[in-house]
Amino acid sequence: MADLLFNPITLTFLLVLFISATFTFTTIILWLVIAYFKSNLRATYFEHRDRILSTIEYTENEVPVLLGFFHPYCNAGGGGERVLWTAIRDIQRFFPYVVSVVYTGDTDASKEQILAKIKSNFDIGINPNRIVFVYLQKRYLVEDDRYPRLTLLGQSIGSLFLGYEALNNVIPDVYFDTMGYAFTYPLVYLLTGIKIAAYVHYPTISSDMLQKVQDQTSVLLKRGVYTKSTIWNMGKQVYYRSFAKIYGYCGNFADIVMVNSTWTKGHIENLWRRDADIVYPPCDTERFSELPIVERERFIASLAQFRPEKDHMLQLQSFAKLLENNPDFREGEKKTCLVLIGSSRNEGDENRIQSLRLAAKELDIEENVIFEINAPFPKLLEWVSRAKVGLHTMWNEHFGIGVVEYMAAGMIPVAHKSGGPLMDIVTEYDNQPTGFLADNVDEFAAHMKTAIDLSPEEYIAMASNARASVCDKFSELVFGDGILRSLRRSLT
Ligand SMILES: *[C@@H]1O[C@H](CO)[C@@H](O)[C@H](O)[C@H]1NC(C)=O
Repeated sequence: MADLLFNPITLTFLLVLFISATFTFTTIILWLVIAYFKSNLRATYFEHRDRILSTIEYTENEVPVLLGFFHPYCNAGGGGERVLWTAIRDIQRFFPYVVSVVYTGDTDASKEQILAKIKSNFDIGINPNRIVFVYLQKRYLVEDDRYPRLTLLGQSIGSLFLGYEALNNVIPDVYFDTMGYAFTYPLVYLLTGIKIAAYVHYPTISSDMLQKVQDQTSVLLKRGVYTKSTIWNMGKQVYYRSFAKIYGYCGNFADIVMVNSTWTKGHIENLWRRDADIVYPPCDTERFSELPIVERERFIASLAQFRPEKDHMLQLQSFAKLLENNPDFREGEKKTCLVLIGSSRNEGDENRIQSLRLAAKELDIEENVIFEINAPFPKLLEWVSRAKVGLHTMWNEHFGIGVVEYMAAGMIPVAHKSGGPLMDIVTEYDNQPTGFLADNVDEFAAHMKTAIDLSPEEYIAMASNARASVCDKFSELVFGDGILRSLRRSLT
């Protein structure tokens, strides 16, 4: 008897039996849980829908379509919110029967207050009769300071509860995630089966992060260091990798995926292993695009906050090189100046500005460098209407709204050959160049010389092309068109 029980074949058989039983059991439990929540939601479906629709006016023969925006921080007033409200305004314009349902955790703000803030912050008018706010009480579950460890995982699991709370308030016809909560997609899919759209500003985990941990680990391993931190790093690597896998899996539940830039597209396509459409967010090019494009003065303007990654030092070094190569730029008829425009918001900024002033002195260019700190808007406008060239030196900036503004204002951009300026902004338009790209001191100096020495005709041709390019690519019109084109399939 014992022989029969303990021989390898029987043991293997029992093991397989045990594993498959566990698996079946888990599947059944999961299935039951899903069925339970699903029937819960179904029971209240019409009741919730009627409650939502009772808060707005519509005629009986209009059949409203509910487009649910999952945007728990809708009252934050940042760049992501500008995108959200622009999208809602455009949808209201073109699909009058669509009612936007915004799921938000801003329980302290009424509908009127939120709409008023949108009007004053972004000058975007929203029709109150086609928008409903659904207030979520569990937003604290996605706040990052709640999870000192395993933040990504904590927030993601938290978002499941928040997502369920949203659906339990009302199930829309299309679910549109505009804040990057990808973990909610499988939930929405399994519980409701409705269409899912996503607009991704930024991947929750990027391949850069993965690479960084991997590099750290391999350095430690190569050195043969098997300390606590090596083990820690290996654990972190496993965590990030598994997280990225699950993230990619969730992303596949979306029917429509839009991304805000080439950079994000690269990462999302890599992680989710699927196609994504670029829909550039609308940039406010209007405030600069009225400035006349006529022959300008020999100023090279740099508009950037004094943050380390902006690399102002590279600007000074390149400018010093420019003056070294072209001594006639120092004074006289060809005198060329670099104007550093930016704000000093705190002590860190102030210290950096001081060291830049010092560096300008040491590089012997202080006679040609102007610091314009905390300039009021009219002063700033004056500079950008006089300067011929706009300088940008930040490496691998994901987008670079500053460069867009240079081009809108009629400056010739000389920008870092990486990230957004390389992939999205300083690209040819109408088969003509829109500016220059550089990635070291010599290249920056050479391109600055070419740009500042453009003849009036050449300058006007290139600057007009650059302006046309950004006003076309990053306009609200093109954005609205992109969003509507992607959503049309599920809204009609
Ligand atoms: C995309 O979103 C990210 C995160 O908000 C932002 O840093 C980046 O500048 C955005 N890109 C564009 C084209 O606005």
